[in-house]
Amino acid sequence: MEIKHAIKERRSIRSYKDDPVPREIVEKVIDAATMAPSTLNAQPWLFTVLTGKKRLEAIAVIKKSSLYMEEALSLVPEGEKDKIKNHLKKEKSRIERFFSDLGGAPVLIVVTMPMIDDWTSRKMGIISCGAAIQNLMLAAYNEGLGTCCVGSSLWVEDALMEMLGIKDHRLITTIALGYPAEEPKPTPRKKDVIKWV
Ligand SMILES: Cc1cc2nc3c(=O)[nH]c(=O)nc-3n(C[C@H](O)[C@H](O)[C@H](O)COP(=O)(O)O)c2cc1C
Repeated sequence: MEIKHAIKERRSIRSYKDDPVPREIVEKVIDAATMAPSTLNAQPWLFTVLTGKKRLEAIAVIKKSSLYMEEALSLVPEGEKDKIKNHLKKEKSRIERFFSDLGGAPVLIVVTMPMIDDWTSRKMGIISCGAAIQNLMLAAYNEGLGTCCVGSSLWVEDALMEMLGIKDHRLITTIALGYPAEEPKPTPRKKDVIKWV
């Protein structure tokens, strides 16, 4: 598959088939993640793969993050608030359904990064993890898999880390992974994002 096709056609998937994802495919997409650039080649990522019982335990923790919707909205810039509120209203049932079981994704990948005190170094680590996550999502698409970045798991970071027994790491995100049971339409993109100086 051409990279530009994967970049254009990947969508966030919020409904998955029950079909299990073979372990070697999961390892293949994580291997693609680890090929991402990282600051000082620090590769500051850990991918904790959850299936079976642990996956269900994680879902029980993450679904509580929907309780923080109002708090999340308060962080949205004023100019964007109405748009986001309308989106949430329109998509309420779909969003609630997704949070009830993360779309039935058979695999969850929890991405964490070691604690870094210095803010600039921490930002570099987060950027590196973001690059790895995008690699993972594109590689998954190439394997016929769907993904969705579940950023809202950050609202329940402490509970999730404790449940997984992960210490001295910060949560970057959780990724839902599985074979798609939906074909979402493309989401719009802002146009006015380039400034030539
Ligand atoms: C950092 C990050 C956090 C996200 N968190 C969530 C989330 O908590 N729940 C969700 O349904 N989608 C989440 N998404 C998916 C976005 O909603 C999605 O990427 C965006 O609407 C664009 O749609 P597309 O991925 O299909 O192109 C997240 C994406 C990113 C990159």
